[in-house]
Amino acid sequence: MPLLEIEDLRTWFHTRDGVVRAVDGVSYTLDKGETLGIVGESGCGKSVLHYTLLGLIPSPPGRVESGRAVFDGTDLLACNATALRGIRGKRISMIFQDPMTALNPYMKIGKQLMEPLRLHDGVSKAEARRRAAEALEAVGIHDAGKRLDMFPHEFSGGMRQRVMIAMALITNPELLIADEPTTALDVTVQAQIIDLIKGLQRDRGMAMVLITHDLGVIAGACDRVAVMYAGRIVESGPAAALFHAPRHPYTEALLASRPSLDTEADRLESIPGLPPDLTKPIAGCAFAPRCAHAAAICGTEGGVLAEVAAERATACVRVQRGER
Ligand SMILES: Nc1ncnc2c1ncn2[C@@H]1O[C@H](COP(=O)(O)OP(=O)(O)OP(=O)(O)O)[C@@H](O)[C@H]1O
Ligand SMILES: [Mg+2]
Repeated sequence: MPLLEIEDLRTWFHTRDGVVRAVDGVSYTLDKGETLGIVGESGCGKSVLHYTLLGLIPSPPGRVESGRAVFDGTDLLACNATALRGIRGKRISMIFQDPMTALNPYMKIGKQLMEPLRLHDGVSKAEARRRAAEALEAVGIHDAGKRLDMFPHEFSGGMRQRVMIAMALITNPELLIADEPTTALDVTVQAQIIDLIKGLQRDRGMAMVLITHDLGVIAGACDRVAVMYAGRIVESGPAAALFHAPRHPYTEALLASRPSLDTEADRLESIPGLPPDLTKPIAGCAFAPRCAHAAAICGTEGGVLAEVAAERATACVRVQRGER
């Protein structure tokens, strides 16, 4: 049994300008200890999908329209508030995209680290403080005893991200959702933080969902990758195979638009056009208007994810038909 199984999940926002279909029929599974990378351009639904699992969607305007998200036998979308509280922030933790919105600027780091322990495990104050110091040491923050009494603004960006990781891991979760854990940081620090997370993950046998718009971050860090576009998964597969031979033109375009050290910056292809308006119904493949390989069939039968080889799925109807 997978640790997490998401099936046909839809999260829509009912706004004055229309219904935003932010997540529109996503399914995936994640095994114990496995790392799944989620990639896609800004606005494709990566965060909303995972906020939904943790019950963090503002409602209204947000609403879960359909789907199941079964974590170790419990449907997170159907269980009661008490059951969800026992899972969220304890068995499943999240590192948020922006550390400064997740950290309380007026509360000492130590108190913020101790809170989930006091809340979920009911440990004594002294024990919680000891474990908080240990958690800071584990993410490479030395002098932890002193650091516990500091406020978030007294830490650098990279250090704050380490604090966020410590906070997410302090309850020994079975699943970590890391939402763009390194976007705010410069490239050398990014690599350190990813290495740190991977090391901690290995030590604990924890499963992870690593969300990013940067394919470079995913390479090497993930077992499998799911590529999202306009609220749906358009391609998924083992990381190495997907990078080596993408099976969807959108994945190809993402790979081509990725800066690398041996590419001249001015020769970078950026993906022409913009993602679709999510308030308008989409016929067929959502990527077709931007796709160099689109044909008439894409507007009618495209956009349905299907397996085309062992562990390889694509929503490109032309790849499915063997035309590409
Ligand atoms: N409260 C809300 N009301 C209306 N629309 C929303 C709301 N929150 C998110 N959305 C929309 O849902 C879509 C998906 O947003 P989401 O934050 O999941 O994107 P993302 O893939 O995480 O992007 P990024 O890479 O920029 O973090 C976007 O079009 C966004 O505008
Ligand atoms: Mg996001």
